[in-house]
Amino acid sequence: MKRNINILSLLGAALFLAMGCSRAIIDEGDVSELPPITRTITYEADVQAIMTNSCITCHAGPAPNADLDLSNYQNVRFSAESGGLVSRMNNATSPMPPSGILSPQIRQIIDKWVADGFPEN
Ligand code: HEC
Repeated sequence: MKRNINILSLLGAALFLAMGCSRAIIDEGDVSELPPITRTITYEADVQAIMTNSCITCHAGPAPNADLDLSNYQNVRFSAESGGLVSRMNNATSPMPPSGILSPQIRQIIDKWVADGFPEN
């Protein structure tokens, strides 16, 4: 009996860990749990830094990955307007950046920028 209890608690711990880990890679669901952003999000104040920190190592320069240059306002806006940028940043199985989906807080900023109509500054 004692053994069974140990196995059960191990299973429980494993399940708990597995759920904890998968939670971290779930998409828009975790964004909607955050308090809404009330200020206006702009490219220059908010979005550009996210691109610089997480995207332009691959998406800029003479031969950007996927032919997608995210180093200026027009291109980032175009990619967000066409839906590609937002869907890949929120894609848990094929995220951008490929190293792992960004935090809900960061993805919420992008969502709000889209909702605000892509202000530049
Ligand atoms: C380590 C390199 C790397 C980083 C960093 C990276 N990407 Fe990518 N990205 C790629 C590669 C390679 C592809 C093409 C293969 C694919 O679609 O998975 C791609 C494809 C894409 C596409 C699809 C383009 C198309 O035409 O279908 C989008 C949108 C995108 N990336 C956006 C982003 C955004 C936004 C970021 C930052 C949040 C980012 N990427 C960070 C390497 C990267």
